[in-house]
Amino acid sequence: MTTDEKMEALLNEGRVFPPPDRFAATANANNKSLYEMAENDYEAFWAKQAEELHWFRRWDKVLEWTVPFSKWFVGGKTNICYNCLDRHVKGPLRNKAAIIWEGEAPEQQRVLTYWDLYREVNKFADVLKNQLNVEKGDRVTIYMPMIPELVIVMLAVVRIGAVHSIIFGGFSPESIKDRVLDSQSKVVVTADGGYRNGQVIQLKRNVDEALAGNDAPVTDVVVVRNMQYHMDIEIDDKRDTWYHRAMRKANHFIPAEEMDSEDLSFLLYTSGTTGKPKGIMHTTGGYLTGVHYSTKYVFDLKPEDVFWCTADIGWITGHSYITYGPLSNGATVVMYEGSPGYPDKDRFWHIIEKYGVSIFYTAPTAIRTFMRWGEKYPQRRNLSSLRLLGTVGEPINPEAWMWYYKNIGHERCPIVDTWWQTETGSIIVAPLPGVIPVKPGSATIPLPGYDVAVVDKDGHPVKRGEGGLLVIRKPWPSMLRGIYGDPDRYYETYWKKFGNLYFTGDGAKIDRDSYLWLLGRVDDVINVSGHRIGTMEVESACVDFPAVSEAAVIGIPHEIKGQAIVAFVTIKDGEAHSLDLIQEIEEHVVAKIGSIARLEKIFITAELPKTRSGKIMRRLLRDIANGNVIGDTTTLADPVIVEQLKQRYESEEGN
Ligand code: PRX
Repeated sequence: MTTDEKMEALLNEGRVFPPPDRFAATANANNKSLYEMAENDYEAFWAKQAEELHWFRRWDKVLEWTVPFSKWFVGGKTNICYNCLDRHVKGPLRNKAAIIWEGEAPEQQRVLTYWDLYREVNKFADVLKNQLNVEKGDRVTIYMPMIPELVIVMLAVVRIGAVHSIIFGGFSPESIKDRVLDSQSKVVVTADGGYRNGQVIQLKRNVDEALAGNDAPVTDVVVVRNMQYHMDIEIDDKRDTWYHRAMRKANHFIPAEEMDSEDLSFLLYTSGTTGKPKGIMHTTGGYLTGVHYSTKYVFDLKPEDVFWCTADIGWITGHSYITYGPLSNGATVVMYEGSPGYPDKDRFWHIIEKYGVSIFYTAPTAIRTFMRWGEKYPQRRNLSSLRLLGTVGEPINPEAWMWYYKNIGHERCPIVDTWWQTETGSIIVAPLPGVIPVKPGSATIPLPGYDVAVVDKDGHPVKRGEGGLLVIRKPWPSMLRGIYGDPDRYYETYWKKFGNLYFTGDGAKIDRDSYLWLLGRVDDVINVSGHRIGTMEVESACVDFPAVSEAAVIGIPHEIKGQAIVAFVTIKDGEAHSLDLIQEIEEHVVAKIGSIARLEKIFITAELPKTRSGKIMRRLLRDIANGNVIGDTTTLADPVIVEQLKQRYESEEGN
């Protein structure tokens, strides 16, 4: 099926699920008043949401907006860590569980109450400030497994007003190096190793490799001892410190820095359409307002909930909905170190049963994997504690939605399909689950406070029932404030296309009820298992391999991952085309970027289709790989290439 046919099928998706009465009766929002409030007075609405936080000084002005730069809660002073911890430990939440951590090895469990977390965060804040001389505004790179120390470290960084840059543990040394250099980080915090799917990941070794032989300004590397058995790692006495030793020497209280609302809180690198990842900048007051508000209303968070977001903290979902959103709301969060299939395929359902998880937030790619594994795994466990389900990361196909609804939610739990991005900081399009009826496959309508539209190429809204480009028309508190060190690229990427509308890079359709149906990226970004990979990044990793002369990378639909990466490469004269070569290129790409960029298929060809001006026509390669009718080839320098390529590709597929 073509994308258009799929879309037609989706739009004809007639099923509608209104909020269950019992859910709506006690929901944090069960009528349209939030929508009305936001509609009537946008700034007053956001001011009201910001008032839910603690401010050392109230803002003078809600918003200052000069396209494309926004400032929120101008003149206000606050601190993200203070909001997540200090204000809770002063009251009845002091001894409530903040983090329930489950290790990948069964029976490994740690519980940190708000007070425990507060104490540990204060100690590490002292380590940063007084042992490692980290000052306000300094960058700290974090490359850690999913262990409580990761949350402790990130909160400690924002406590003292420093800026974290967290790198997902699946990234390679080369990717760490690029990010450390771009952010000019002073300190790196890592662990000796991590566990994933029964395997050990060599985190410290990757950091050593990343920092070797370059001019990174890193003065200190802090290493958490995470492995249960001694792991053979090298410690450089001049640069490296064990976390537990530093913590032993730490004092117990470091006041939270009074941050300006617009001060930087973190950078998070994400793939774009060029080879270089972008350091997305998030600030303090606006970001926290966005994540606090969305956690409370989209997840309908209540004091007694047990909230589990299965993302890794290395991605924005983990930043916003494991750490900052839930903790600023005083929630109990489940944090799981490992993979869903270890030691058995019912691991997630076991965790839900064990801790009585009530809100569960995961990705469509995971749901499709569970579908393939079969119903018998969730059936083994008691899932009756669940009351709300969520998805994020890519469009969910209605079949996976229905499976999730029936087998996990037992037709009782509303599902919130949440559309947002690293750049948006928090959820933008999603239903309020006590108010908005949901349709399988649609993220429904924008949350109160967001002005989202689907427009044509000139920026005019499309009619209902039509498709176009997804844009955001008004600034919002948790929006990115720029790309670190590159203001021009910020304008080019998000604003240049329409001038005064934020361009998301996504295509969408809008149905007759004004519901949004996301269609995926319209730029050169591939969404693999809910993670963004830039085609340029993969192409440069391919051509970096000595035998490769040119490469063109595209995404193809994939049953589990949503999309998978295919590379068409030409090799240099004299190089032999062999299976070994294909494997070596594949390994090279993993070594350059990380295992998330693993290629599904490498197709070696003598030539790539190009326009007369020499531009590679990826669109035609997409047609070939997807078995579509080949589009317009009149601009090609040599149209014969496409036909030959198609025949060879199809015969290889048939084998
Ligand atoms: O294409 C959209 C897709 O993921 C992109 C953002 O990726 P990232 O910055 O890595 O953040 C992922 C988690 C927030 C978007 O441009 N996307 C995210 N959520 C959805 C989605 N596509 C459809 N439906 C969603 N719910």
